Amino acid sequence: MYVGADYYPEHWNRERWPIDAGLMKKAGFNVVRLAEFAWVNMEPQEGSYDFELFDEALSVLHANGISAIMCTPTAVMPAWLASKYPEALAMKGDGTRHVWGVRKDNCYCCDDYNRLSEAVTRAMAEHFADVPNVIGWQTDNEFGAPTCMCDKCLAQFQAWLKDKYGSLDSLNAAWGTHFWGHRIKEWSEIPFPADSNAHNPSACLDWKRFHSWLVVEFQRDQVKILRRMCPKHFITHNFMGLFSGLDYYDLASDLDFVSWDNYPVWGKPGIRYDASLGADVMRGLKGKNFWIMEQTAGPSGWGTFGRNPRPGEIRSITYQQLAHGSDGQVWFRWRTCTAGREQYWHGLLGHDGEPLRRYREAAQTASELHKLAPHLAGTKVRAEIAIIYDYDSIWSLEIQPGYPENSVVKAIGRYYGALFRSGVAADIVPPGTDLSKYRLVLAPAFHVVPDAVADSLDEYVKSGGILLTDCRFAVKDENNLCHERTLPGKLSDTFGIRIEEYESVDGGAAYHLSYGAEGKEFTVEGYTDWVTAMDAESMGKFYDGHLSSFAPVTRHGVGKGVAWYCGVVVTEEEFYDNLVRDLLREAGIEPVADLPNGVEATMREGEVGRFLFIVNHLDMAASVSLPCQGTELLTDKHVAGEISLAGFGVAVVRVEG
Ligand code: GAL
Ligand code: ZN
Repeated sequence: MYVGADYYPEHWNRERWPIDAGLMKKAGFNVVRLAEFAWVNMEPQEGSYDFELFDEALSVLHANGISAIMCTPTAVMPAWLASKYPEALAMKGDGTRHVWGVRKDNCYCCDDYNRLSEAVTRAMAEHFADVPNVIGWQTDNEFGAPTCMCDKCLAQFQAWLKDKYGSLDSLNAAWGTHFWGHRIKEWSEIPFPADSNAHNPSACLDWKRFHSWLVVEFQRDQVKILRRMCPKHFITHNFMGLFSGLDYYDLASDLDFVSWDNYPVWGKPGIRYDASLGADVMRGLKGKNFWIMEQTAGPSGWGTFGRNPRPGEIRSITYQQLAHGSDGQVWFRWRTCTAGREQYWHGLLGHDGEPLRRYREAAQTASELHKLAPHLAGTKVRAEIAIIYDYDSIWSLEIQPGYPENSVVKAIGRYYGALFRSGVAADIVPPGTDLSKYRLVLAPAFHVVPDAVADSLDEYVKSGGILLTDCRFAVKDENNLCHERTLPGKLSDTFGIRIEEYESVDGGAAYHLSYGAEGKEFTVEGYTDWVTAMDAESMGKFYDGHLSSFAPVTRHGVGKGVAWYCGVVVTEEEFYDNLVRDLLREAGIEPVADLPNGVEATMREGEVGRFLFIVNHLDMAASVSLPCQGTELLTDKHVAGEISLAGFGVAVVRVEG
């Protein structure tokens, strides 16, 4: 297993390099990531390359048994590039260009920038292909920004649309330009639909898709070069978890595996739901294990910094990711920089370069990871539940949330939190995935649903699956136009319901309902459908008079399966705990363990065996009653019955039997 840190030899005197490499070695580190911002070091002027600094750093690292992931350095253009080719700097909406001196500020349609990006990639690939301790590549850094609004990008957007739609008639139909007299007669008339609160929502969705496509193409040009010239190396990119600016499935498709940047230390210590969901989203991009390429190593921030990871927290964050399928662990960053915008983004070492508490905790974690590595090789999280995660729906709801504060991630989070609390794993999958291997499929806020996808969900249920969807399901088609059917549209018969009316529930107005045998009362805030249960069973009851004939939740057996619909957004977590409990029972899915608050449990399994990860997210002791017995691999002790964890404590049990 690779464990290490993001390292910037270009920030320190050469005399320091052997000290750093020695400390890394002592900590059990065997990998660093290098050079993602070092374009100017390697190409001090156009066309003349100088790799001497990295050659020497690599040889110092090599002497200490440390491998390296090299990065294409295109996240920061050199000053010479910006001044020689001003059009390389992206244009903002007001027509001015980015001022050089930050990062991620290039136009992806600038021929000179693209030519130079390919050239530096080629030069690096050629130079580092056979360096013994170079093992792989990261493309660029955190792709996403910026969205350029220059004339070249506009022409490219128009050409992309022409390619997609073929004719203006079909573009006009897809965008519904009969509204507000927005009919387009020439491709060149199409503007950037930059105001997502006011421009045509169909055009806005296409612009997001276009930007994503442009970035994926940019990466693809680099990947092609690296594949050809460095066949021995892997290629990855550092994704940003729940970031929604790109279609991450597309960005991942050209890579060997996904890596991601995990910074879960903000505010007071709490349950890291987002880091858990982020990890599952990352695992879902390619349906395989991933790496952490950057992870919180200390207080973080640019102007002000946040809290310090508490004793044990650096370690427990790592185990959470390991439990969700991480196969490589890299902390950001090795040592806190004394210069530049990230002086307060703390590394494992402080400004003083001393190996103190955070270093020691990372070293302990590294040695444990090496101990676990042979056990975990080839193991994966095996989930019986899939959650559909769809960028079209994410984007459509960013453009028009429908009701205030609505988003795909929030909607998924309501159910995901309940799964997390019950100790049940889920895979996050794109629409169109073969769902037949899953016993339960959740499709929260699945908003953009082309007819073919609706048909496949119907088929999934009829052949025995359990499906739950909820508010605003299938309102839109693939063009971001509303379907012309009574909701839930094509799947009305599948769910056995009709939704003739619906509303936001905001501004202090709230409804009340009961759900479950206990008859407990819950609060509806945000949104409600007025669901008429036709053939479906009504699973709860509204207390409010005018809603009393409608069903908050419905359940409908159809074919060999069951389709559930939840038409309310409820404030209390307990409502989702109860609903998810009923779904798990329906699907015959057993939790991995019965868990106290704040403790997470996940199983990794493979041919070598089954491994139960237990992670305490809170700074207080907890005890868990084990569903199995086995060997706790960190202590080499046999465990059965109750096991107690310190605050931020972890356990990895090799399950027997
Ligand atoms: C990441 C980025 C790093 C560093 C870090 C702290 O998002 O990839 O280069 O900037 O944040 O700001
Ligand atoms: Zn541009």
